[in-house]
Parts: sequence; structure tokens; C-alpha cells
Amino acid sequence: MAAPGRQRLMRILITGVCGFVGSTLAECLLERVEGLRITGMDNLMRPGTETNRARMEHLGVEFIHGDLRSASDVASLPACDWVIDAAANPSVLAGLSGAGSSRRLFEHNLAALGNVLEYCREHKAGLLLLSSSRVYSIPALCDIPLQVRNQAFAVDSASPLPRGLSADGIGVDFSTAAPVSLYGATKLASETMALEYGAAFDFPVWITRCGVLAGAGQFGTPSQGIFAYWVNAHLRRRPLRYIGFNGSGFQARDAFHPRDLARLLLAQTRTARSSGQRVYTAGGGPANTMSLTQLTDWSDQQFGQHAPVPDPAMRMYDIPWVAMDNTDAALDFDWRIESPLSAILEEIAQHARSHPDWLEISHV
Ligand SMILES: NC(=O)c1ccc[n+]([C@@H]2O[C@H](COP(=O)([O-])OP(=O)(O)OC[C@H]3O[C@@H](n4cnc5c(N)ncnc54)[C@H](O)[C@@H]3O)[C@@H](O)[C@H]2O)c1
Repeated sequence: MAAPGRQRLMRILITGVCGFVGSTLAECLLERVEGLRITGMDNLMRPGTETNRARMEHLGVEFIHGDLRSASDVASLPACDWVIDAAANPSVLAGLSGAGSSRRLFEHNLAALGNVLEYCREHKAGLLLLSSSRVYSIPALCDIPLQVRNQAFAVDSASPLPRGLSADGIGVDFSTAAPVSLYGATKLASETMALEYGAAFDFPVWITRCGVLAGAGQFGTPSQGIFAYWVNAHLRRRPLRYIGFNGSGFQARDAFHPRDLARLLLAQTRTARSSGQRVYTAGGGPANTMSLTQLTDWSDQQFGQHAPVPDPAMRMYDIPWVAMDNTDAALDFDWRIESPLSAILEEIAQHARSHPDWLEISHV
């Protein structure tokens, strides 16, 4: 217990601390919160994440090499006030043949969460769960009325829109009916388990369904971290493909920076409310949405022309358009994104130029 008159310093556990989001959150939170102590666990399974270990230790993060699937690894962690759960296999293709086994996906993304929830129960630690836009129904996402604007799919607001969708993007009430992808299902089940544990054992749980997170240092691949992958691959003249959607490249995603997510998570830790809305959507929103064709145009201007090859065959779980609605997060946490997509892309390009072997490090 803290001595009278002295505030006890906040302590946060970040799972997946050497991943792109976990490491960026650690850095941003340490910049923002005086005296904050961070413990981080990672099994370094994602290629490239070992490059963040020294960086984290240099920042003063107490790094523990361990696996969240192991109850005894998690039990060895020191008590913390909050857990940011940023460990997962985050690819929408995870669990499908060629992208790792479904059992591994289940163990890393869902069974491991059981150990994290037991940790929260034991230490009465609050949980900040990073969920995903992938919890939404794929047929419902594919049925969104769209039009093509400036070589990108965009919502056709003149048509009737389904529940949970407005001109501001996709909100929490949009359909989560299966199928949502194996990855999405692990996230949706994680949300349910987290809320249930929080209610049963009286610890706070905040869930943020994130749109695409992007920035420098992301270990992008063709199936995850698309903005970083595309910019690096374009610069290094790797073959690029417009998969599905008639090979148009019009599929569009919103993107935001983990720096902005860090401010939202901090606001959540500072909100004492114990009932009411616990699940929020957060992302770049319609204003920070870009199609692959637009991303190629942007990259052409930076690095010279490099044309992707159309590959019209649809890939499983592909969807044409996603942008998250930030209205609830703005109302309840006074939260808005500060990094526009242009700044995020410039940051990625700068990092790509100074890391010529980034795709090899990321095992692409
Ligand atoms: N990047 C995005 O666009 C995005 C969007 C929505 C949600 N999310 C969520 O944010 C979180 C972080 O994503 P990211 O982009 O940083 O991914 P990442 O792959 O860069 O980081 C995940 C980290 O978790 C670690 N990890 C995985 N399983 C583990 C285990 N069993 N034990 C210990 N460590 C383990 C990996 O080694 C890696 O360092 C994930 O939960 C993801 O689902 C990401």
C-alpha cells in the first residue's frame, strides 16, 4: 500500500508487448504517464518481434519471455492494475490451411485469454481488450450498399443502411452473426468471456473493436498489416496483387495509429463508471479510408511507378469496405484521432526507406 499522501504509481501489463501494437502502446504510454511501470510478456512467435525486445528493455519495460498459453507463465507475472491484451495471431486468414492450424489459432487467441482472465480475477486488474472489426458478419459486410468513388468502394448513403451502419461508419450494433472468420470468432468469443469474467469477479473490462492499425515498424504481410506491407513491397519492387473484386483494387479500409489508440485506452482506465456501455468501435473512420488502388497511386508518387497485377479470384473472408464509427468513443471519452492517414503513410514510408530488409525481417 502507498504511504499516506503519496499516490501509488500505475502498473500495466501488456501482453504481446513486442508486437507492433503492444510495443507502440508501451512507448506512447510511457511518454504520457509519469511514473508508469510496464511489464510485458511475449513469446516472440511473430517473425520480427525479437527486434523489439531490446527496444522495450531500453525503455524500461520489464520484459518477460513467456507464453500466455502456459498457466504457470502467466501465474509468474507480477501484480498490475491494468492488462492491455495485445497478444494474438491477428491475421484474418489464421487457422486456414497454409496459414497455421486452427488449433493453434484457438490456443493463442482464445485459450490463452483464459489465463489472462484468471490473472485479472486474482489481481483484480482491469482489462483493456483489443478486439477487431473482424467480429462483424461477413455476409452482412458484403451486403453493405456501395458505390465506387475515386477508385474506392464507399458506402452508398442514398440506399437504406443496415442496423449499426451510418455515414460515420460501422458501430457496435452492426451484425456479428456467423460467419465472421475463425480469427473474428476468437475475438468475439474473447469479448464475451472478458465481459462475463469482469461481471462475475468485479474487475473493469473495456473492449475496443479496432479498425486497421497502421504505422512504422509494423510487420506487414499480404494478409495482415496491409498498409505497411503494401508500402514496403512497392518500394522494394515486390510483386503486388489486387486480389478479388474483379482485380479492381477498390477494396477499402480505414486506418489509425496505435498512438491514438493509447489515448483512448488511457481515457478508459480513468473512467470509473462500472455499468453501461463496455464495447466501443475505434478506427480511422471514413475520412481515413483508402483503397488499394489509391494506396498504389500514393506509393507511385513516392517511389515511382510499380503496377500490381489483377487477380480476380476471391479469397476467403475478403470484404470490400470497412470503416469504424468513432461517435461513441468521442461522446464517452472525448476521444478523436489525431494522426491522419497521410501522416501514417509518410511514417511508414520513412521507416521502409531506412529499413531495406524489413520484408525479410517480417518473413515475407
Ligand atoms: N494490427 C491491426 O490492424 C489490428 C486491428 C484490430 C485488432 N488488432 C489486435 O491488436 C493486437 C495486436 O496486434 P498486432 O498488429 O500488434 O499483432 P502482432 O502480431 O504484431 O503482435 C502480437 C504479439 O503477440 C505475441 N503473441 C502471440 N501469441 C502469444 C502467446 N501465446 N504468448 C505470448 N505472446 C504471444 C506475438 O509474438 C506478437 O509479438 C491483437 O490482439 C490483434 O488482434 C490488431
